[in-house]
Amino acid sequence: MFGAALSMSMFITLVMPSFNIFSVGSTALALDKQLTYGFNSGWNPDDMFLSGANKPLKVLLKQDPQTGAATEPVHAYVFPVNARFPSGILHPKVLGAGSDVLSVEQGKINEASEAQGAVFLVRHGEHEGASYPYIENATATRGWTADAVLHAAGDANTSHAGAGKTIFVREGCWWCHTLLPEQTQDFQYFGAPPYLGDFNGESPTAFGSDRKAPDLLHVGSRNSSKEWMMMHFFNPRLVQPHSIMPRFDYLWGKTDADGNKIDYAAWRKEFVQYRNGERITPPEVPNYRSDSEIRYLIDFVLNLK
Ligand code: HEC
Repeated sequence: MFGAALSMSMFITLVMPSFNIFSVGSTALALDKQLTYGFNSGWNPDDMFLSGANKPLKVLLKQDPQTGAATEPVHAYVFPVNARFPSGILHPKVLGAGSDVLSVEQGKINEASEAQGAVFLVRHGEHEGASYPYIENATATRGWTADAVLHAAGDANTSHAGAGKTIFVREGCWWCHTLLPEQTQDFQYFGAPPYLGDFNGESPTAFGSDRKAPDLLHVGSRNSSKEWMMMHFFNPRLVQPHSIMPRFDYLWGKTDADGNKIDYAAWRKEFVQYRNGERITPPEVPNYRSDSEIRYLIDFVLNLK
């Protein structure tokens, strides 16, 4: 009896699914997500403590990195030396029909090397009469190097959303928040649900399993204020007095942007005085260092458009 039940369940799990994942074509968003987040945002042997190391950077480029001439702004995805490539670059089939051929033939993604670093772009092209998004390896096609592109963009136009997603996974934001709005009455506020092809090669998707808090898939479209995010992450009660969201002030680290030590105990004492009506203004939230975990996390949240 047990044998029969086991065979039946193996049959259902292994044989019956006729759905061919490679037939799902990537949307341009799936390519953007792969190139923003890199190989794997969850636990993996390259980043055992989920620090967000070896992740790509998404930059807004407003000038040609070689000549310095002004150009139409374009997003470029910079993989410094040894940043792991996402599965779509390693296994182009993952990109789905059309996008895979264009990415290899026109985009030259198979010439990219993790050991040397690479810069990618998301493009649109034609294949057998239909239009598909594809990935271009700008290091092979245009001679753009990771260093030159980072330098041309500058820190202000550089997003650490890739490292930030790892922090989102590590901190368990998904215990309360989803990244999957439903087509219900909150559609107009929380934005459109995603398409199937938005997920090719993304790992993990961080959908969340339970919703105790607002869906965050499009949060950067409804709230793009870095200052609000700083206050809310340092102590959510600064902006939402009854919030159940925990503080994430420790992601600032030991020092602020000017190198001064952050005195968390003194800050909380002043905040309690403010909450009790003993002072008029709340204490100021420290500016974060550009290499702090909170910068990575805020870059990730604001990139959720
Ligand atoms: C215990 C549950 C809980 C956890 C864990 C949690 N949050 Fe929240 N979060 C909330 C609740 C409840 C709200 C709505 C009230 C508020 O704004 O504080 C919220 C609001 C937000 C908002 C504003 C949403 C909007 O619609 O404008 C953002 C952004 C956010 N959280 C990000 C995060 C991130 C990133 C993490 C992980 C570092 C996190 N949260 C962890 C419960 C949580």
